[in-house]
Amino acid sequence: MLSLFTLSGLLCAQGLDTELDRKATELLQKMTIAEKIGQLSQVNGEYGQITDGMRIRVREGKIGSVLNEVDTKTINELQRIAVEESRLGIPLIFARDVIHGFKTIFPIPLGQAATWNPGLMEKAARVAAVEAASVGLRWTFAPMIDISRDPRWGRIAESLGEDPYLTSELGVAMARGFQEDNLANKGAIAACAKHFVGYGAAEGGRDYNSTNIPENELYNTYFPPFKACVDAGVATFMPSFNDVNGAPASGNAWLFRKVLRQDWGFGGFVVSDWESIRQLEVHGVAAGQEGAAQQAIMAGIDMEMASGAYAAYLQKLVESGAVPESVINEAVRNILRIKFQLGLFENPYTNPSDFPALLSPEHLAIAEEAAMQSCVLLKNEKAALPLPEGRFKKLAVIGPLADDPYEQLGTWIFDGDPQHTVTPLAALDNALQGQAETHFVKALETTRSYDQAAFPEALQAAREADAVILFLGEESILSGEAHCRAELGLPGAQLELLKAVAQTGRPVISIIMAGRPLALGEALEYSDALIVAWHPGTMGGPAIARLLLGLDAPSGKLPVTFPATSGQIPIYYNHKPTGKPATEESYVHIDDIPVRAPQTSIGNTSYYLDAGYKPLFPFGFGLSYTRFEYSNLQAATPMINSGDTLVVSVELANTGDFEAEEVAQLYIRDLVSSIVRPVRELKAFQRVRLKPGESRKLTFNLPVEQLAYYYPGTGWKVEPGQFRLWIGGDSNAELNTTFEVR
Ligand code: BGC
Repeated sequence: MLSLFTLSGLLCAQGLDTELDRKATELLQKMTIAEKIGQLSQVNGEYGQITDGMRIRVREGKIGSVLNEVDTKTINELQRIAVEESRLGIPLIFARDVIHGFKTIFPIPLGQAATWNPGLMEKAARVAAVEAASVGLRWTFAPMIDISRDPRWGRIAESLGEDPYLTSELGVAMARGFQEDNLANKGAIAACAKHFVGYGAAEGGRDYNSTNIPENELYNTYFPPFKACVDAGVATFMPSFNDVNGAPASGNAWLFRKVLRQDWGFGGFVVSDWESIRQLEVHGVAAGQEGAAQQAIMAGIDMEMASGAYAAYLQKLVESGAVPESVINEAVRNILRIKFQLGLFENPYTNPSDFPALLSPEHLAIAEEAAMQSCVLLKNEKAALPLPEGRFKKLAVIGPLADDPYEQLGTWIFDGDPQHTVTPLAALDNALQGQAETHFVKALETTRSYDQAAFPEALQAAREADAVILFLGEESILSGEAHCRAELGLPGAQLELLKAVAQTGRPVISIIMAGRPLALGEALEYSDALIVAWHPGTMGGPAIARLLLGLDAPSGKLPVTFPATSGQIPIYYNHKPTGKPATEESYVHIDDIPVRAPQTSIGNTSYYLDAGYKPLFPFGFGLSYTRFEYSNLQAATPMINSGDTLVVSVELANTGDFEAEEVAQLYIRDLVSSIVRPVRELKAFQRVRLKPGESRKLTFNLPVEQLAYYYPGTGWKVEPGQFRLWIGGDSNAELNTTFEVR
């Protein structure tokens, strides 16, 4: 596939005849080759300092962008040097990983994805953008839209889960939130769709590892969120660290010139990942840094982050004819267009007082709402939750994450400050004033501790309490970049703590804060109720307290399958059917195999002897304090033609006694197709709030093109024939109907 692509002819395809392009071209014509290469270089900031070297390089036009500088005075001074002292006065663009908030920290992206609420995520991204812009940042390296089917991979925390459709919807919402409809708006910042592509498919869930992704999967599973972000106007792209079928993304012309620019019409610019151009040599596809620079620029990587291969070698490569100057011109134009769009030429400086305050009450309210909607209730027995109002006097609050302002913020929080965090303990104390008291025992120093010295005190607190709330999980540093785990159990002696507490016979409510799905089987067994709260951010405490006290009902739904054990990975809902799918009848547990049973291939199906074939919880799963019932599913258009829209409706009723929100999910399956298609695919969802006893007819409109899939070598097509369609509260929904595409 890669070898089929040649570079010729594609570069000119990007030459957009717009006003922006005219401005960029005009400026380009005045630039020396050194100044052009300068625009392609992004360097790390010096943390509130400006060394002489930096000053000189900016003045000489040898730097196009700075990342990781967040001190406004320094940003403005660097900008002043660029704008007033450099020959052409081209402004710098300041970038930062604003991944789930700047100062106001929202739940980790995987947690936000559990809200299944694009509107709310757009608002969260908007807050992050405004706060970041208020110090002078105009570019974030988000959203991360790598399909993540492996919870061992630490960066799953940063992803939006396993599903292409959900990731597309939520990734686009984030991009829109960052960029608004006009990059020049005050508080708008450029977004970056990353990491193109397949980073989440790293072998064995080990970060940076190789990926082998067939064309079919690339197009149907990994590309869609990126294509959706291009269509939504995302300003920048970043390659992944991994090699994709042997070609490292940072030197992959097929990905960046053919797919991204030619096929999808991307008009923004591409920034490498941190030193990923330098790493082409380490991958072993370039003999040295010169070769790495050549490969990357020819592949369409416009700007180099952190390493200096472009700065050191591009001029020489142009002079020797190894890289045509037109290639450099194109990259510079791509970058200048975005700088013009951001209004940096007109408004290069930042005055923080032009912006709303950081951590304003409005920002914190959105963070609390996001944290609340991200919480997924996985178990609730013996009416453990919500805590019965007025009928408890003492709560034992136990565990390493109950009152840790830092750890609840999660990975990638360069600018988040734990001093603003409200922990669950603080929030409960605040909410319960005068009505009940909490007794807090940390019990374990960290989530990884084995020292059980404080267990007796915790157990004493549990015995004296009406209920126990245990805060367990993973510290922030156990997920995120390069922090992968082979086993997904609760680290340290946390399970022992839970078991001991459960022995007291008090109601046990476990709140799990973590950056990934954990194998929670035993934790569930010993808990009466269990909520996955991810790393919920600054306002995680009040959000969790609201749910515990029944001021609102949990409404989060899993954006990723929860495996029963790491040995089941990969396990995801939209898998293919195989010729021998596992069934209840065919499954034999390892302990039930008769001694010396003869080998046979008859009646066998696809499963593990020791771990079955079902995950612990399916994608889309999440309980509420109320009951939701689905009925009367109807396809108003049981036969559709190309160009039509499928219209389906379902009745959703809140049959419990708690006002709550439900995420209704619509899945389809192409029953007979030319290539094997997934057993189910999410195609639409709606978040609805219903009062007790209330019911509502929900209508879904699905343009027939949404049923298309990519057929290798041929392209996208909607195949005529029967489809099955399910609507329900998770990916195991049973209520279904069929329709036909003619
Ligand atoms: C990560 C990127 C990030 C960059 C800059 C890299 O290590 O892979 O996602 O944007 O660092 O911090």
